[in-house]
Amino acid sequence: MKIILGSDHGGYRLKIAVIKHLKEQGIETEDLGCYSEESCDYPDYAEKVAVRVAAGDGKVLGILCCGTGIGISIAANKVKGIRAACCSDCFSTKYTRMHNDANILCMGGRVVGDGLACMMADLFIRTPFEGGRHQRRIDKITAIEKRQNE
Ligand code: RB5
Repeated sequence: MKIILGSDHGGYRLKIAVIKHLKEQGIETEDLGCYSEESCDYPDYAEKVAVRVAAGDGKVLGILCCGTGIGISIAANKVKGIRAACCSDCFSTKYTRMHNDANILCMGGRVVGDGLACMMADLFIRTPFEGGRHQRRIDKITAIEKRQNE
């Protein structure tokens, strides 16, 4: 499983901590920017990462960080096929994989500490989608996406 990451300036430091943690475990990562703490716009990086995850056919997951995790999740969710979840606890992170088949985890660099973020990243990557009744609900989300973009 490859992990594609992105952030704005507000999430940059947290993203770098998460990348270091994933690399130490031998997990393949790709950072699509930003590359410094200079002010930039989170939708630019949300789109880059979301497009790659959507094209990855379930074989790649994304991690996005901004100041709160919220703006970058709203932007990522505009891309077809993306289910981006903004989380700041382990329970939500685990269940958004199990029940929502979330394909991007969003976190806030001004909200969560490095230790918690790394733990959440591990949970997100390792927890499988449960399928079953949850697939029916995902299919309904996909149907909304289709109807509203016709
Ligand atoms: C940037 O200052 C900040 O607005 C952004 O990182 C994020 O928190 C938006 O949701």
